[in-house]
Amino acid sequence: AWPTPQDLQDVQGDIILGFPKRTEDFIFFNIQNAAAFKRDLKQLIPAITSTADIQKLRKDIDDHKKSGKHGLLKAVGINIAFSVKGLEKLGITDDLGDASFKKGQLGNASALGDTGKTDSSGNFVPDWLEPFKNEIDGVILTDSSGNFVPDWLEPFKNEIDGVILVAGDSRESVQEGDNKVEHVLGNSIKEVFKVKGQTRPGKEKGHEHFGFLDGISSPAIDAVTGHLPGQIVVPPGVIITGVTDGDSVARPAWAKNGSFLVYRQLQQLVPEFNKFLHDNPVVVDGLPRDQGSELLGARFFGRWKSGAPIELSPLKDDPELAKDKQRNNNFDFSGESFNDQTKCPFAAHIRKTNPRADLLQPFGSGALLPHMIMRKSITYGPEVTPEEAKENKTKVDRGLAFVCYQSNVVQGFEFVQESWSNNTKFPPQKSVAQPGFDPIIGQNNGQAREVAGLQINNQAGNTTLPIEFVVSKGGAYFFTPSISALKTKLTA
Ligand code: HEM
Repeated sequence: AWPTPQDLQDVQGDIILGFPKRTEDFIFFNIQNAAAFKRDLKQLIPAITSTADIQKLRKDIDDHKKSGKHGLLKAVGINIAFSVKGLEKLGITDDLGDASFKKGQLGNASALGDTGKTDSSGNFVPDWLEPFKNEIDGVILTDSSGNFVPDWLEPFKNEIDGVILVAGDSRESVQEGDNKVEHVLGNSIKEVFKVKGQTRPGKEKGHEHFGFLDGISSPAIDAVTGHLPGQIVVPPGVIITGVTDGDSVARPAWAKNGSFLVYRQLQQLVPEFNKFLHDNPVVVDGLPRDQGSELLGARFFGRWKSGAPIELSPLKDDPELAKDKQRNNNFDFSGESFNDQTKCPFAAHIRKTNPRADLLQPFGSGALLPHMIMRKSITYGPEVTPEEAKENKTKVDRGLAFVCYQSNVVQGFEFVQESWSNNTKFPPQKSVAQPGFDPIIGQNNGQAREVAGLQINNQAGNTTLPIEFVVSKGGAYFFTPSISALKTKLTA
């Protein structure tokens, strides 16, 4: 049976339990010298945090809280993951069994729905291809016949060999972690790009930038986490590679106890989002306009800002429900909700990304479980400034440093993004043939998006979202090896 105590010491700590964190740095690196890197990485391994370490840390934090001591317990967690290019540089060319990992996120950008320019006929189109040639690096330059060029941040177009995650209770702790990484690996890597994640201040802690509480629902690996009412229990191999209970893909032996890490830099246009809610309130008899705007936001997500699910509290927020872990995830869109959007739109973000009974009821667990992902994101960027709020316009970059883990990128992140969130016909077998795009993350290569059922009194009617409120700035796919693989294969 999985896991043994050794397995828990082997799986890197962010994957299942996640770092407890206020701050997290993502250090995207390029390997300068493979031999030197392997030597240096050996020195870093003792500092890499395992699942067993996080179990102990979480217990220490609980004890610290119970003892009534003030302040946060000082903590730093470090994990490391590699892109396919990084593995190749280290001489590892084994097929990890994941076509999307192999291709990289850049190669999948168009299919993911990211915005970009394309040459439809495959011919050379000097008008627009030429300026791009000046800005972009080798990966794109080789695409002379008009391949897709996403509007991504430059570093993501460069060669990113890996990422080091440094998370902790404070900026100071994370800086100490960064210094350690720099000290040990500084001579063999070049830092390509660093993203500084930070939870939001005060009461907004744990809420993403649109204001909604995040980190509520995740799949459970029963033997490690137990599960709460309503939580979807997955076989461990859905998240952890090489664990046969849930992962049936043939992979090299050293890939056991690893996981694929998907990173996406998702900018959020918060003032524009708020303006849209303000201008398009849900109309319900007797409901004041501002509450109708708030309700539209809740129907975008499927939860209120507090985290309370609208399936259980459809017309007004319920902070008590939001806080109650026994109840706040215990719903499934079955019964009359299966074919009705009075409580929750079919296209709501949490319904698109975890359709629960929408799939389980007609199709069984095989339709749902392989697509479950472990999210470990953090917000980046400052609060909205008064000027931005006044002008309804984003002037400072902020958003979500989105991270998710799965044993299979094609079945996990890509499936959720492409076949669910971007697929207007999903979920299937509904009263409206086109539930539309996920209003939060659904992408249409930059085109406007239609969403059905946002207005309770006109469920077949569509709302047009003229812009994306979440804009992909790029990302990469990584493999997070086990700690034993770091000690053997990766440093051999
Ligand atoms: C749930 C926000 C991007 C997948 C949630 C929740 C919020 C949220 C507020 C509800 C809280 C919770 O259940 O934890 C956002 C924002 C995003 C974003 C603001 C972009 C800036 C994504 C992406 C994916 C995704 C890119 C995957 C492709 C999920 C999943 C859930 C979820 C699977 C849990 C659904 C459930 O089990 O009920 N998100 N999210 N999210 N999100 Fe996102």
